[in-house]
Amino acid sequence: MRIDIIDLGMNGEGVGKIDGKVTLVDFTLPSESAEVEIVKDHKNYMLARASEILSASNKRVNPPCKYFYICGGCNLQHMCYPLQLEFKTELIRKTIKKIAGIDCFVENTVACNNQYNYRNKASFNYRGMHAGFYKTNSHEIVDIDECKICTQAINEVFAIFNQYIKQNNLESFIKHLVVRELNSQILIGVVTNKHININSLYNILLDNSNLGILQTKKFGLYQIVNTRRDSVVLKGKVYFVAGIKDIEIYNFGLTYFVDLIGFHQTNIDIQNKIYQCVLEYISPNEIVVNGFSGAGLLSGIISSKAKHVYGIEIDKSSHLSAQKLKKDNKIENLTNILGDFNKEIEKITKYDTLVLDPSKKGLGKSILEKITHAKKIIYISCNPIALAKDLNYLKDYFSIEKIIPFDMFPNTKAVETVVILKNKERL
Ligand SMILES: C[S@@+](CC[C@H](N)C(=O)[O-])C[C@H]1O[C@@H](n2cnc3c(N)ncnc32)[C@H](O)[C@@H]1O
Repeated sequence: MRIDIIDLGMNGEGVGKIDGKVTLVDFTLPSESAEVEIVKDHKNYMLARASEILSASNKRVNPPCKYFYICGGCNLQHMCYPLQLEFKTELIRKTIKKIAGIDCFVENTVACNNQYNYRNKASFNYRGMHAGFYKTNSHEIVDIDECKICTQAINEVFAIFNQYIKQNNLESFIKHLVVRELNSQILIGVVTNKHININSLYNILLDNSNLGILQTKKFGLYQIVNTRRDSVVLKGKVYFVAGIKDIEIYNFGLTYFVDLIGFHQTNIDIQNKIYQCVLEYISPNEIVVNGFSGAGLLSGIISSKAKHVYGIEIDKSSHLSAQKLKKDNKIENLTNILGDFNKEIEKITKYDTLVLDPSKKGLGKSILEKITHAKKIIYISCNPIALAKDLNYLKDYFSIEKIIPFDMFPNTKAVETVVILKNKERL
């Protein structure tokens, strides 16, 4: 069956029609024609698989990763980078229009300097002899020997680790390998189903550290014994094995520490671009509440410009990191609060601006009801649908000044968005 692709869908798949019915075809691009087989026939649309691209778009590129078509990690490696950025801008515009009914102008998506080797944390899955990432919508492991979007040092640790467990017959004990690399320092978490001796791995890493990409790196090795049967990775008893405990970073004039487990943005280039953007919208006399503040870097940065900053974070270990950042950098106009934003925001009686960076599920009605009197909201979102739902509520109280998507995850469909909202009555 032949199809002409006319648009891109919400997941970056090609969209066309067969016998008048909308049909989504993975890995195809607008202006292409393809030979397809129907995979699923739903009531209002069909899913199809391309068996041959009959005429290719000039925006098609060869995916550099040999696992691209089977691994669930990336979706857009077949698209040239300018089209990826255009797709993300349109995705945000269409999602806000569809869900919030707002016809808004969306700025061009801010590009990432590196489209590959940008990801500073990876969690590889293991099952017996298999090691890699999952297939899309499945827990079947795609065996890989490298990941093109992770940093080269992460790939090198992955290769050394795989050789190590093979040589020591440890495959049956390994559940995951988590590697975080920042600022030439690496933290490694070996997640096992029972406690095993991995002390010699540290020396092997050190022996390899005068070779290749691992040169001059500092390592920290942990073992996490996780006996859970679900897909949660970094939960269980944590054993520190050897090396550095945290990664030390100097950024935006601040010194801070990142551990293996706590949240940290996975793409430093785009993280810094987002934080710079937030800072531009902060004025010196403002009292700012930074909700969902993580390990406190953004709160620290905002405190360099605002009158006072409150950071609210629910995770204790992230809160302690934020307290350390405040102390180490002698910041006086910052109060870090440990608790649920929904409860803690009620206790702060006077503030001007909210900087909010919630997790995937967004804010939700019970928080939104409490923040309608803010003068300004700077909303950082990693989920376009949750963002659009929250904007649908906020649109009665706030006007949208700017919407800027940021390409935090090149080659995947994911996009981060910053929205600047100003109170219709207070400004
Ligand atoms: C997307 S991360 C943002 C972290 C930080 N802004 C940054 O850029 O590193 C979301 C953070 O919200 C925290 N969080 C989740 N639910 C929360 C809640 N109800 N109240 C406060 N913090 C929460 C998580 O622990 C996580 O650190």
